[in-house]
This record gives sequence, C-alpha cells and structure tokens, in this order.
Amino acid sequence: DTSTDDEDEGDDDREENEAMESRGRTESKETVSQCVDAEDKQEDKKEQPVAEEEVNEKNSTDEEKVQVKRESQPAIFIPVHRSSEIQEARLKLPVLAEEQVIMEAVKENPAVVICGETGSGKTTQVPQFLYEAGYASGSGIIGITEPRRVAAVSMSQRVAKEMNLSTRVVSYQIRYEGNVTEDTKIKFMTDGVLLKEIQKDFLLQRYSVIIIDEAHERSVYTDILIGLLSRIVPLRNKRGMPMKLLVMSATLRVEDFTENQRLFRTPPPVVKVDARQFPVTIHFNKRTPLEDYTGEAFHKTCKIHRMLPSGGILVFLTGQAEVHSLCRRLRKAFPFRRGHSADGSEAMRKFKKAKQKKTVSLPRIDLDNYSALPLDEGDEDREAEVREEEEDNDDEGSDLDLGDHPANSVENADPSLPLYVLPLYSLLAPEQQAKVFRSPPPGARLCVVATNVAETSLTIPGIKYVVDCGRVKKRFYDRVTGVSSFKVTWTSQASANQRAGRAGRTEPGHCYRLYSSAVFGDFSLFSEAEITRRPVEDLVLQMKDLNIEKVVNFPFPTSPSAEALVAAEQLLVSLGALKEPPRTGRVQEMERARLSCPITPLGRAMASFPVAPRYAKMLALGKQQDCLPYTIAVVAAMTVREIFEDLDRPAGSEDESQKLTQRRARLTQMKKLWAGQGASLLLGDLMVLIEHVCAYVTAGAVGACEFAGCTPKFCEENGLRYKAMLEIRRLRAQLTNAVNAVCPEVGVFVDPKMTPPTEHQVVCLRQIILAGLGDHLARRVQAEDALDPKWKNGYKTPLMDDPVFIHPNSALFKTLPEFVVYQEIMETTKMYMRGVSAVEAEWIPRLLPQYSHFGSPLESPSPWFCSTTGTIRCHRPSTFFRVGWQLPAVEME
Ligand code: CDP
Ligand code: MG
Repeated sequence: DTSTDDEDEGDDDREENEAMESRGRTESKETVSQCVDAEDKQEDKKEQPVAEEEVNEKNSTDEEKVQVKRESQPAIFIPVHRSSEIQEARLKLPVLAEEQVIMEAVKENPAVVICGETGSGKTTQVPQFLYEAGYASGSGIIGITEPRRVAAVSMSQRVAKEMNLSTRVVSYQIRYEGNVTEDTKIKFMTDGVLLKEIQKDFLLQRYSVIIIDEAHERSVYTDILIGLLSRIVPLRNKRGMPMKLLVMSATLRVEDFTENQRLFRTPPPVVKVDARQFPVTIHFNKRTPLEDYTGEAFHKTCKIHRMLPSGGILVFLTGQAEVHSLCRRLRKAFPFRRGHSADGSEAMRKFKKAKQKKTVSLPRIDLDNYSALPLDEGDEDREAEVREEEEDNDDEGSDLDLGDHPANSVENADPSLPLYVLPLYSLLAPEQQAKVFRSPPPGARLCVVATNVAETSLTIPGIKYVVDCGRVKKRFYDRVTGVSSFKVTWTSQASANQRAGRAGRTEPGHCYRLYSSAVFGDFSLFSEAEITRRPVEDLVLQMKDLNIEKVVNFPFPTSPSAEALVAAEQLLVSLGALKEPPRTGRVQEMERARLSCPITPLGRAMASFPVAPRYAKMLALGKQQDCLPYTIAVVAAMTVREIFEDLDRPAGSEDESQKLTQRRARLTQMKKLWAGQGASLLLGDLMVLIEHVCAYVTAGAVGACEFAGCTPKFCEENGLRYKAMLEIRRLRAQLTNAVNAVCPEVGVFVDPKMTPPTEHQVVCLRQIILAGLGDHLARRVQAEDALDPKWKNGYKTPLMDDPVFIHPNSALFKTLPEFVVYQEIMETTKMYMRGVSAVEAEWIPRLLPQYSHFGSPLESPSPWFCSTTGTIRCHRPSTFFRVGWQLPAVEME
C-alpha cells in the first residue's frame, strides 16, 4: 500500500554533506557497527559468557560503578496514589500476583520475557511496577512500544488514570502526534517511533527501561527493535549506563526470542503469568461461507442478541470497511447523512482552464539535486514516520458518530434490550475507540465490531460472546509486480484461539466460529512473522540509515530470506540510496559486498520519507523546477490502492450490466480528456492521477477552496473511491510535513488552489517518475518481434519473457510510446501495465546510470557521454544480463 523513491546534491556538496553527516553521527555510527560486528566476532569465538557485572567491573571507573549499583538496583519505592476503586480492580489482575517474580527477574537480568494471556494486565501494570521500583526516578524514563497506534494512545491514558498522574507524566508518541513533556516518566509509543529515536541516539540514553509489548505479533518493527536492543542493552551496561529490556508477549512461541543464539547469548528468563480464564464453548459452523462472511456475522450477531442472555458481543472481521458495513447494518434504523458538495465537474473545468500553455526549453531533472536532511541533529519534532502497516485510513468516514445511540437495531426483537454497536479498528480516532472501555448505556447490550486489534492489544470488558469470521487481512507481496497489497486470508489456529479467549474474561462464554471445524484443522498453527512475507527494501534502507551495513548479519528473531535481502540491496543501489560495491575480486567477495553496500547521502534523505524507497526517491528529487507539490500529489495517489471504482465488477442484472458498460465508456472518455494533449499526455496515467487529486472546488460564498476529490459527489461523478481520496488527502498533508522537515528551505504546502503543472513541469515530472520507477521500465517491441501476433503492441520488460501491454483504459493506449515506466503489472486477460507514463530514451542513461551500460568503442568516462551502440543493462535479483536495447544517439553536455 505504501511506496517509495529518492535523490541527491552536487558532487562537491556531497562530500561536504558526508563529512557533516558523519560528524553528526559519529557517536552512533561507531556504536552501531561496533555493536553488531563485535557481537559477530564474539559469536565466532563461541561461548564466552562474560557476565555483565564482570564487564562493568573491568571497564568502569569507580564512580561509574557507584552509579551502576544505584541505578540497576533502585531501592527506592515511589508511592503512587491510586483510587480505591482502581486498586481493587488491579488486585484482580493475574499479573499482580507475579509482581515480585517479575521485579526480581528484572533486577537480576538485563533482558526478561514476560508471557501471559491477553487481559492479564501486562501492558497496564508492568510499567507501574517499574515506576514504583524507581526505574523512572533517575534521569532515565520507561518506554513501552506497541505495534498499533490505538494501543499506544489508549494504554497511556489508562495507565495515567490508574496511577492518578497527568498525561504530562504518562504520555504517548505516535507518528507526528503525542503529548510527551519534560516531565514524562512513562512513554507509550509505536515501534516505528522508537526505531526513529534509535536513529538519533543509538544508546537510547533517555530510557532506563524499554518494554517491547505485543512481541508475539511479530510486526517487522518489533522484530527489528528486539534485534537492535539485544545489542544496545549489553552495550549500555558495558558503558555503565544500565538499561533493562522487557519483552512482553501474549501467546506461545517465545522460543524465537529466548532460544535464538544470535539474539541473546544468555537466554533471558521467561516469567509466565497465569491468567484466570473461564471456559469458552466453541461452536463451529456446519458449512463455511466462502464469500459473504460479513452477512453471516450479521445473522449470527442478530441471533445471539435476540436469543441469548445478556453479555457483550465481540465480532471479528478483517478490515475497517467491513467493520463499518456491519455496524451500519446493525444500526439500520438510523439514516445516513452526507454533507452537500459543490459540483465537481465545474471544478475540473476550472482546473483545465487554469492550465497555462507555455513552451520552455528542455527542462531537466538533476539527479544530484535532492532534498537532504538538515545537517544538525536533534530536531525533536522531526519524527519522520514509519507508515502504518494497517489498511487505509478513513478517519473522516461520515458514519462514525452514529454509534452513540443505543436502541438502534431493527433486528432487535426486544426493544427493552437495545444493541449498542461500536466499531473498533486501529486507525479509529482515540475518542471513538475509548468508548469500548466504558460501560454501555444502562440496559443496552454492548456489541463491538472489530478487526484483529481486539485479538490481543485491547481487552474489552464484559464480552461473553465472540463471533469469529476466521479471517485476517494481511499484506502480501507479489514478486512479479513487486507490489504489495492487502489480502484477506484464513487466520492461524493460535489467533483463532486467542479470539475465542476474549469471551471468557469475566465469566464462562461462547465463541461462534463462522467456519467448520475441518477448515479450522487446516489453519496453520501460528501466524508467520511479517518479515518473511513482505519486501524488505524499506527495512534495509532504514537499517542502513542506522549504519547497520551488513543487514544480513543482523540478529533478526526471524530472518528474511537471503534472496529478499539481495533483491532489496540491488534495488536500493539502483535507486542511488546505496553505494554500488566494486565489481572486482573473487566471486565470493563480490557476493558478500553486494550484501553490505553503504548508504549514500541520498539514501539518508530517502530514509526520512514515510514511503517506500521508489517513491521516496521521487520526493527527494521533486523540489526541482517547483515540482514538489505535484510530486507529493502523485506519490500520495500512487501509494493509495484502488483509487478508481471497480468498473470490471460483475453486474447483478442485465440492466446493471448495461449501465456499467455505459459508465465505463464515459469514464474512459473522461480520463482521456483529462490526460490532455501534447506534453501532458505523455505523463499519461499519472497526469490523470494528478488532475484527479488536485482538482478543487470553490465552496461557499467566501470562496474558500477545498479539494474536489474529497467530496462524495465529485468522486461519484468521476468514478473515484471516496475513501481513497480522503486517504490521499491525509497522505499529502503528511508527506508535505515530512518534506518540510527534511528540507525546510523548500517550504512546500498543500495548496487547494494549485495550478496545473506547466508543460515544462510535466517534462520534469516524467523524469522524476523515471528516476523512481526505473526498474519498471518497458520498451515497445521492435518491428521484427511484432510480427509474432502475440507481441502485437506489446512491451518488453527486463524481468519477464512475455510481453506486457498498455491497458485500453490507459491514457496512453493509443499513443504507444517507445519507452514507458509503469507502476505495477496486473494480470487479467493479459499482463497489463498500470500507471503508465512515457519516458524519453535519452533520459535513461542519465537518470538510471545503474541500469545503463555502454560497451562503446569510445570508452567514455561517464555513461552519458553517449554512444550509439549503448545497451541498457538490467538485472534480475541475482544475475546480470543484457537485454540488448539499442539506444539512439544522444547529445548531452
Ligand atoms: O496487556 P494485557 O493484555 O496483559 O492486559 P492489559 O491490557 O494490561 O489489561 C488489563 C485489564 O485492564 C483488562 O481487564 C482491561 O479490560 C482493563 N483495561 C481497561 O479497563 N481500560 C483500558 N483502557 C485498558 C485496559
Ligand atoms: Mg497488552
């Protein structure tokens, strides 16, 4: 769902930059490589279990020793004044019984694993134990990471409330938002936030304890954090600045952490918290609905509500859209209202009219002119953010507030027991999600419709019935197109049991599984770690930005495949984010070098944008020729999936099918119109995206502007998905912040009244896109190949043997430019390229030097001193090969 790209500075600047860069980062650079490499060496020597104390003894001065003693064994007890009500509730939590054991283990060991059933009180209580034991009484604070934003926010609020402390003291930080102050002692944050902090201060000196929560979720950032902390903690202890690591996990399989020799040399002790769990009766469906499990969930929920005794219902679905749809169905009695909006097509006419026709001489995008990080470190506000792994956000969704009304189910046969329906998913606004923890209105039955956030991160009180669709939405990666997408698949047995367990927190409960026991038997036992099923170029870039050169040596709890790592490094090299290894030496050495390419200044700039590397490169280059606002718009549009409504959907009736055909024809016509003529046409589908995204309407008498794409009417008229457009708007604002943070002198802002790009800028944008999507280059087949009917109008790509095509819906369908770049390849009746933009052959060697190779007789010193016999070299993940593309003669300075 998210995406990428990059670039850079003049050669002279670059040197200076590098110098400055390394000055700013010396401390952390040394520490990281020392740390990761030193551990490697230790590993080689095998078994040298040096107790941390001994190390301290040898390396520290007396003064440090005193400090060590003091801080590692805080004897102080910091009183907390809890209300009696809270205190009473706490005492019921199983984790309270283990306080002694946990604190002893923490005192004696640098790392401890705490394993306990969801709801046993780990997240809310363990930080309090540590606080009371004085771990936050010195200069260091207690940090807790959560894989989900929703948990970071709500847990910080909950803990503040329990401890009777202000949110100045118990705070949270997520993305660009948070309430951390100088007084903060307990800080909840997303794992991405902590990863960024490690980039600034490898030793995490602000913290005396780090708690990695929800480690069983095996989110990529959690995995990396555990790997990093397994090095940081011993290092801190060696340097006399003791630090503790707690890894907290719900279900089993902690062996990945404890018995992983690369991670911890001495396996950390595991403290098990026995949860009081009431029996849950499991009811399987006889048959398994293949498609409409939301409908099935609806019927089941209605039935439970009508026929079974009181007790909350928790429904597990896979995504936000489903959650809302089920909530809506369950509250059908309430009408759906939407704001009125101005006419979208009028907006488009204005946008078109504003287009200036200007001819300017040869604009060009310069690879060496990229947005770079400010050279001084320590800008606390710059929390360049790691994008949420979750599905599209639709915080703006207009139906969120309908949930406040009890008595809103038409299905409810007994009006004396209304159904109080609440949605719950990770991107829900905090005020909205906090509602699930409050008691429902008197006499109403609580019904929470949730994604798998309710599986382990949040425990909802009073749930007696669980309805489980058995599915989960996961991100998948398609190795052919290189594009990741969310897909709904069966969950694992461990997850299904976890979901069932939610019904037995306060009394015996029931779990209704909307699938048969045979299907359950086919589920995998556990969910795979996320890192093994996604591309890793963004991770590799983040880690290189942490100066971890040999990513392959990194102590991952579960390693990504070597193949994925090699592919990632190669892509990053070709994007200019990493330095290409020398092509000399023995094969083995070369292989090794290819897995430890150093990061470039451009790579650092790219690492600071919250999109995948290809798009980060576009953002980094985008400041040239005032293209940044357009680059941001197009990157935002490309990273949000499915912005157009699905016109190929099956029609229910003859009538509908006819309507669909008409609509398809009209929208295709419209898109062609939008793509324009001449220069802008060559930007192709991406021009269409820019136009949709930047169209505005003048709303109200005062003439205030707003984006047309954010009105339901405009979307309806133009075949756009409203939610996708809202997501794009949000992302544009976010990317604008990120670019401004990295490159404040550019001062870009999202202006509703943006004028369309000039012809000159369109040419630049095409170059920017080429620089980012360079590995998605395709060339129209040459006359001789085209004789084979299979290849008619086909395109050749470096990676595939079969032709790919421009889709009839594409703006460039009739144009058939010789060279194009595409966003992704979709296989339907044929292999179609999506998001196609035309590029000029002479740009290729200049903007994609890594892909260009000139076996020219001229032996030119740099690739763009052209030759007519040059070939563009492309590589597969592991081998280089020539596709023998003849380049036309090019004149360049
Ligand atoms: O982390 P773990 O799953 O072990 O448990 P927890 O999140 O610390 O939750 C402990 C208890 O606090 C549960 O019974 C929750 O229902 C309750 N809680 C609450 O009432 N309100 C919150 N905002 C958070 C937790
Ligand atoms: Mg928890």
